[in-house]
Amino acid sequence: MRSHLVAPSLLAADFRRLDRAVELVNTSEADWFHLDVMDGRFVPNISFGQFIIEQIARDAEKYVDVHLMIEDPGRYVESFARAGASGITVHAEACTHLHRVVQQIRECGLKAGVALNPHTPVSQLENVIEDLDTVLIMTVNPGFGGQQFIYQSIPKLRQTRDLITVRNARAVIEVDGGIGLQNAQKVLEAGARVLVAGSAVFGADDPAEVIRQLKAIDANPVAYV
Ligand code: DX5
Ligand code: ZN
Repeated sequence: MRSHLVAPSLLAADFRRLDRAVELVNTSEADWFHLDVMDGRFVPNISFGQFIIEQIARDAEKYVDVHLMIEDPGRYVESFARAGASGITVHAEACTHLHRVVQQIRECGLKAGVALNPHTPVSQLENVIEDLDTVLIMTVNPGFGGQQFIYQSIPKLRQTRDLITVRNARAVIEVDGGIGLQNAQKVLEAGARVLVAGSAVFGADDPAEVIRQLKAIDANPVAYV
């Protein structure tokens, strides 16, 4: 059994001291940096783009997971690759030509991911699943940190896991939104392998300890079969 990964979302970090957040991820038991790009169109909020990611990636000693919550992300794949992304995730809802965008990410030599909003059915993945390294199941509506986990996501995780198993695909399932110690075990048992956590980590008095506790969760191994 391979164990799960923890990916702190820097959206919830104190941007006055971004260096500390980067250091925390580098030195803690965290596995990935999760970086949320928002354009004010696909989602109501605007966060940061290539420039900030380049600064982070320069000091990052771990996988840089870039989550693009932007319209028509194909226009920006190459520039986020140059900024230092290790993997890029695009939203199925934001791509008219999803298959093409996935190939574009892979041609840059990066891991490719597709994200689904809470209302988007898993069937949207059927014609790209074999090409994916990650499937990101949004467990809140994207756009903001600190929202409440949507419990209907649990059966959706199982459906995604079943699709991956039936098609013998390699993709791992990432969960994003409202994840913390209160629900991590449930999502892991439903099929998640990567836990994205923003406020649960950076809102805590001791972020490294929360990361350690998230890593230490002992989920039912049967769930990984
Ligand atoms: C939401 C972003 C998330 C966000 C998660 O649109 O994709 O990555 O930072 O934040 P929490 O863990 O606070 O819900
Ligand atoms: Zn995210």
